[in-house]
Amino acid sequence: MEEERIVAGEIAPGEEDAEATLRPKRLSEYIGQKSVTDNLKVFIDAALLRKEPLDHVLFYGPPGLGKTTLAGIIASELGVGFRITSGPAIERAGDLAAILTNLSDGDVLFIDEIHRLHRSVEEVLYSAMEDFALDIIIGKGPSARSLGMDLSRFTLSGATTRAGSLSAPLRDRFGVISKFEMYTKEELMRIIRRSAQIMGVGIDEDSLSEIASRSRGTPRIANRLLRRVRDFSQVKGNGAIDLAITQKALDALRIDRLGLENLDREILLTIIHRFKGGPVGIDTIAAAVGEDKATIEDAYEPYLLQAGLLHRTQKGRVVSDLAYRHLGIERPREEGRQLSL
Ligand SMILES: Nc1ncnc2c1ncn2[C@@H]1O[C@H](COP(=O)(O)OP(=O)(O)O)[C@@H](O)[C@H]1O
Ligand SMILES: [Mg+2]
Repeated sequence: MEEERIVAGEIAPGEEDAEATLRPKRLSEYIGQKSVTDNLKVFIDAALLRKEPLDHVLFYGPPGLGKTTLAGIIASELGVGFRITSGPAIERAGDLAAILTNLSDGDVLFIDEIHRLHRSVEEVLYSAMEDFALDIIIGKGPSARSLGMDLSRFTLSGATTRAGSLSAPLRDRFGVISKFEMYTKEELMRIIRRSAQIMGVGIDEDSLSEIASRSRGTPRIANRLLRRVRDFSQVKGNGAIDLAITQKALDALRIDRLGLENLDREILLTIIHRFKGGPVGIDTIAAAVGEDKATIEDAYEPYLLQAGLLHRTQKGRVVSDLAYRHLGIERPREEGRQLSL
């Protein structure tokens, strides 16, 4: 069985309830992601003023950065209904038609993983988004007929981890397209402080800083680590979270000071030891560590790049000086390479 990945950005099985209690409900509670929220605030105010539905909005970025949360906040700020579904969950055009015809004026429909919509379903969405009209074909061959129907004026909110996988016609129908960035350490500290307050657990500044540093720029991971540290402090300590407990808990989870876990380190070490630090292609790295390429690209590489541990070049991936230092390995001096002073 595969080991559960503590620092995965994706939600883990059974984590839904814990997340729901920590999810901000209003824009004022939502921390960071300022360029996204500043923009959105203007559109929300305008929509309220004109008493019109908000333009369709697309959120993209790595998992765990607050896309679903923000979509829900839009609905609460507008005071409208919020309906959640996901690309792979809508199997047939008829399923989407059923969802659309049940919406009320102004409602926000959230489609997660929207890049995974089936083609036939996606096509129904075009006229729905553009004209608030349903246009579907029922049946096949000579008995097929088309069914047209007006829809409520809703707002579609789509989220995707892969903006590049979205078709152009779909992307073009969004009025607002926002990219989510990884959070700074200070923002993560504020998020953890807020979560600890909701959970009713005391935590000192050093521990906030320590957990934030190991959270890979991702609120979902920050909250998960906080819960693990809290458990640890209840069992092994006096219930309050201090630095000693925090370090012990995070070390026991084998998450290092930069939030790296075993496979992250293995990827870097493999490039260092077997490929002289790179450049080396992603396929070769994947084969060498025994993981599939997509997993490395989607789940591991983004943070290694963001943290400056890995660089992407034309010729492949290269391990940075920072990574050598972090792993405590001296970078071999290459012949003919300039010594940088
Ligand atoms: N800006 C934020 N402020 C506070 N908490 C956040 C923020 N963004 C995300 N979170 C927390 O992280 C968790 C995961 O966020 P979510 O919206 O589900 O991410 P995504 O949809 O991008 O994968 C939420 O349950 C919430 O508690
Ligand atoms: Mg989500």
